[in-house]
Amino acid sequence: MDKNNPIGVFDSGVGGSSIWQEIHKLLPLENVIYLADSKNAPYGNKSPEEITALSIKNVEKLLELGCKIIVVACNTATTNAISTLRENYEIPIIGIEPAIKPAALQTTSKSIGILATKGTLSSALFSKTTREFTKDIHVVEIIGEGLVPLIEAGKLDSPEMISLLKKHTKPMIDADVDYLVLGCSHYPYIIPQLKKILPKNVKIIDSGEAVARQTKTVLQSLNLLREENAIPNLQFFTNAETDTLKFLLKDYAEKISVTKQDF
Ligand code: DGL
Repeated sequence: MDKNNPIGVFDSGVGGSSIWQEIHKLLPLENVIYLADSKNAPYGNKSPEEITALSIKNVEKLLELGCKIIVVACNTATTNAISTLRENYEIPIIGIEPAIKPAALQTTSKSIGILATKGTLSSALFSKTTREFTKDIHVVEIIGEGLVPLIEAGKLDSPEMISLLKKHTKPMIDADVDYLVLGCSHYPYIIPQLKKILPKNVKIIDSGEAVARQTKTVLQSLNLLREENAIPNLQFFTNAETDTLKFLLKDYAEKISVTKQDF
């Protein structure tokens, strides 16, 4: 495998680009191909079988494009499909899971909130991690119903978004949580909106940085980090309209290409 081959990243839509931003911060020389499967978003309400089939489709596409490693930048796809993906493909595959462990270790109120999709919260992998790390901690699990479609539509500041966030965070605030774990890669894009609603003492954490660090560790161990000091090729493909991806990545407009393509 060539070190110049791209890192492949996929998500059910635009959300995983928040994870790409962390990867790019840590590994600025790496070539990247990102697939936003927005045509099939949200994955969160689909069955494990459907999520697995869509994940396989995305991996096949990234393999066809010559990726050297795959980052599943979607909690729902990771918690439902990563073991099948790892059984079926030899390429290294990095996943993302809600950051329950750091929240459980740092909470002082012994109460934490988790906002994620139905698919993530009902997965066996999520239950296992939660059981393991939150024995003496109260965990408020909330399905972020309706949030992903609004983020896909770029409606981050809309009245619908604000009222949904108020509804979803109320049980957490009532339970005196001091950590809110963002268990969906779309949600980092609504941190400013969440901050306006949550009490000041509530810390919001997500897994983007951890995924970037893990990606670097694995590439390093395989001697696959790109060394060439040349401008990286950063290609974003979506199978829906390009507007939201372009809007969310406007700070990178000069560096990236965003293309609509069926996959
Ligand atoms: N961004 C995804 C996640 O991290 C899934 C959102 C969805 O498609 O429901 O869970």
